[in-house]
Amino acid sequence: MIKRIGILTSGGDAPGMNAAIRAVVRSALSYGLEPYGIYNGYRGLIQNEIVPMDRSSVSDIVNRGGTILKTARLPEFCEKEIQFKAVEILQRQGIEALVVIGGDGTYRGAKALSELGINCVALPGTIDNDIGSTDYTIGFDTALNTIIDAVDKIRDTTESHSRCSIVEVMGNHCGDLALYSGIAEGAEIIITPDFRMSDEELFSTLRKMREKDVNRRAIVIVSEKIYPDIHEFAKKVEKETGFNTRATTLGYIQRGGSPSTFDRVLAGRMGAYAVDQLIAGKGGICVGVRGNTLVDYEISKALAMKKKRDDSMITIVKQINK
Ligand code: F6P
Repeated sequence: MIKRIGILTSGGDAPGMNAAIRAVVRSALSYGLEPYGIYNGYRGLIQNEIVPMDRSSVSDIVNRGGTILKTARLPEFCEKEIQFKAVEILQRQGIEALVVIGGDGTYRGAKALSELGINCVALPGTIDNDIGSTDYTIGFDTALNTIIDAVDKIRDTTESHSRCSIVEVMGNHCGDLALYSGIAEGAEIIITPDFRMSDEELFSTLRKMREKDVNRRAIVIVSEKIYPDIHEFAKKVEKETGFNTRATTLGYIQRGGSPSTFDRVLAGRMGAYAVDQLIAGKGGICVGVRGNTLVDYEISKALAMKKKRDDSMITIVKQINK
């Protein structure tokens, strides 16, 4: 059986990563394994930033946002030479297997290391919910709640001034943060990579709303990376619709904060599950949740999976954007 396992977080941080780290460390200790924390993701790995962890290393972190192991992006990790270096460092430390937490870039690193003989299990940690092999990623629920809290406030001032507020949310190329928050806010319009609307359609929908009632407000939730400059776009909306319009980019506030109960529980379950898979000798896999059941897939298959979306979501957005 394996003796020493490493754990790292990589890519954009997400609330709940600490809860996952805690679960991996505590679960490993309960089986008599020696857990090692690797700081700063794959970059820290190749720089040998590795420290042993014990029970107290993960005390009082289940409720903390961010990641105590820090994180980094290392696009160069796709280079074979760098991967060999990582393997050499792990072997020197006697670390036989890894749990990595992050998004698809993190998954690709885990796949490469597994192919080189270091078994890795990847957990989905990103606010974007953009991983096809899981219904929910660790951090998505917390980010959503942060968005809702912010948009509730934006809504008050938007209503008071009878304005149109365009709120740009994160998600990289995935529209889930916009989709779920738009539904939860009862937004007038939701625009995501999957639910686009021409400028003319958007102007005409808003124009009609205002013509019916000049005292009304409108909330438009938009995924990032759709409009090059959301503030310039807001000026255009104002000119074309008559709505006094403001844009708000929520930005990094969405990545911080104490994880929600849902994220803590999901992270805890996935962390313990990952350790079980490593003990069973598995590697090159990632963990997901389908319904309320934990599942695992080969990373190569998982990376090719498209995000499944329930038809009810599609129906609702179509009704909203009509
Ligand atoms: O992947 C998480 C995420 O927050 C995306 O939503 C966003 O596009 C990106 O990271 C921002 O990355 P960075 O931290 O490099 O600015």
